[in-house]
Amino acid sequence: MSADDQKRLAAERALTFVTSGMRLGLGTGSTAAHFVIGLGERVRAGHLDVVGVPTSEATHKLAIEHGVPLTTLDETPELDLTVDGADELDTSLQLIKGGGGALLREKIVAAASGRMVVIADDTKLVDRLGKFPLPVEVVAFGQRATALAIERAAKALGLDPVIHMRMGSANAPYRTDSGNLIYDCDFTAIPDPAALADALSAIPGVVEHGLFIGLCSAAVLAGPAGVRVID
Ligand code: A5P
Repeated sequence: MSADDQKRLAAERALTFVTSGMRLGLGTGSTAAHFVIGLGERVRAGHLDVVGVPTSEATHKLAIEHGVPLTTLDETPELDLTVDGADELDTSLQLIKGGGGALLREKIVAAASGRMVVIADDTKLVDRLGKFPLPVEVVAFGQRATALAIERAAKALGLDPVIHMRMGSANAPYRTDSGNLIYDCDFTAIPDPAALADALSAIPGVVEHGLFIGLCSAAVLAGPAGVRVID
């Protein structure tokens, strides 16, 4: 089974958690895309009647293409369930997200949801977070000072990150859907994700970071042997 087949399998299992009438958060990335496509099939077949809030412009476009009815968080500020991918997760369901750059909207949508379920292939499950560089979204104003503050805050926690500004096309800095920049912070390992999350959140200029702590209630992981659910 290919990695993409495993992602589709995880998405299919998560679709069994969806019932008619639900207000859904729609994640971003290649795994979440399988969920959106499967959701669209069920809606078009008349099996599900739901509304979704997309977590990125890319997911917005995909959902429209596949016939998923959309709403906004302004119209529908409380959601029942968000289904999204992750770049890393540990057995306590702490996550690193933002590899696709959508961490800000993903976190806002997850926080507005009664339940967040992560879907992933099981290579994303790790003993300790941090091998995947942590995306930190910052405003452009003062970005170098903000990057220095990120380094200082990490060092105060005994970490020694390598920090790179994410680049986009044409050698220009990558811009998020909200027009901000991203620093990818390679910590190698993050022994205390909650402490790092608090420290990063306290830095002026940091809009959001990709540590999702206490937001995810279950993970659907697909591997060569099939699907398992951690909750
Ligand atoms: C998007 O910003 C990310 O948080 C994605 O959810 C994450 O990168 C997982 O993406 P894949 O499903 O493509 O691995």
